[in-house]
Amino acid sequence: MTPTPLSDLKPVRDRLRGIGDVLDPKDAEEPILAPAVRAAVKGWLDEIRARDALAAVGLKPRSSALLSGPPGCGKTTLAHHLAARLGYPLVTVGAEHIVTSSLGGSEGNVAKLFATIESLDQPVILFIDEIDAIGSKRRDSSGDTGGAVTAMNSTLTVLLRRLEAFGGTMIAATNRADTLDPALWRRFGMQIVVDLPDEDARWAILKRYGLPYIFADEALDALAGLTENAAPSLLRQLMEGVKRRLVLGAMQGSLPASLVEAVAAVVAETQPHPDYDQPPLWARQASSSQIISNISAGQAWPPARQEA
Ligand SMILES: Nc1ncnc2c1ncn2[C@@H]1O[C@H](COP(=O)(O)OP(=O)(O)OP(=O)(O)O)[C@@H](O)[C@H]1O
Ligand SMILES: [Mg+2]
Repeated sequence: MTPTPLSDLKPVRDRLRGIGDVLDPKDAEEPILAPAVRAAVKGWLDEIRARDALAAVGLKPRSSALLSGPPGCGKTTLAHHLAARLGYPLVTVGAEHIVTSSLGGSEGNVAKLFATIESLDQPVILFIDEIDAIGSKRRDSSGDTGGAVTAMNSTLTVLLRRLEAFGGTMIAATNRADTLDPALWRRFGMQIVVDLPDEDARWAILKRYGLPYIFADEALDALAGLTENAAPSLLRQLMEGVKRRLVLGAMQGSLPASLVEAVAAVVAETQPHPDYDQPPLWARQASSSQIISNISAGQAWPPARQEA
């Protein structure tokens, strides 16, 4: 399989209208992942690229992976990145593309999805997001007067059958892994947990989303320490909020007095979901402690900008 020339994406988009969204490999970002996840991903990419060598000994590369983990930790980003590393577009299918209340509609949508993907002239990676919406555990349908349970069970049956026969590469994501049907779970060649970042990963994520501004290592150390339990999406929001204040503050003559002040302003207007453990920075556990003032330690203010 050779990488798809980017100019060829329009026909794929046209064929998939209403069935899924097509993401261009060139728009992918590389997520910052835990070493074990990075190793699993690299192993899978190597395997897919060695398809011919594996076939010579009667083996096939694993064709599917389930990504699970809390929201905002990089499941979608990773799926897009994986597809880009292989040089293929990612076809993202969400519950909104499949689930409908019309009789037999959801089953039909699943069948149509696979039939369309299989009939494309060029390879794509299929990404089923929020797969729990169609892949949750089958339930007893006796007494199911409205037919909703029967419809969900038969949608899952169609999905299982189509997956069994599917010759392409498929990634699915969920943040409700415990609700998935065991038979669906077993269909995946890999189950990868994309979890909340540890301190090293938080440091790297804060640094990345702080760019092009250069934040001092000590400031990043303090922020990484105060953001335990924060998802990468929240870390991104934090650093982008700081950068916004730097740009607008410089234009309007209202620059925050320090990094602590800029961070405090962003914290005041963002809030992690209440179902998750609050990072210390938001829980204000450390508001009077030395750690908060460490955020500004050694930090040139305003920070220098990296050369373009
Ligand atoms: N591991 C990561 N490294 C760097 N950036 C990340 C990472 N995870 C998430 N982000 C950033 O956070 C945002 C949300 O990430 P993404 O959509 O991939 O999360 P998700 O796990 O798919 O969430 P959900 O469960 O809500 O679908 C993206 O803009 C992405 O750039
Ligand atoms: Mg996602």
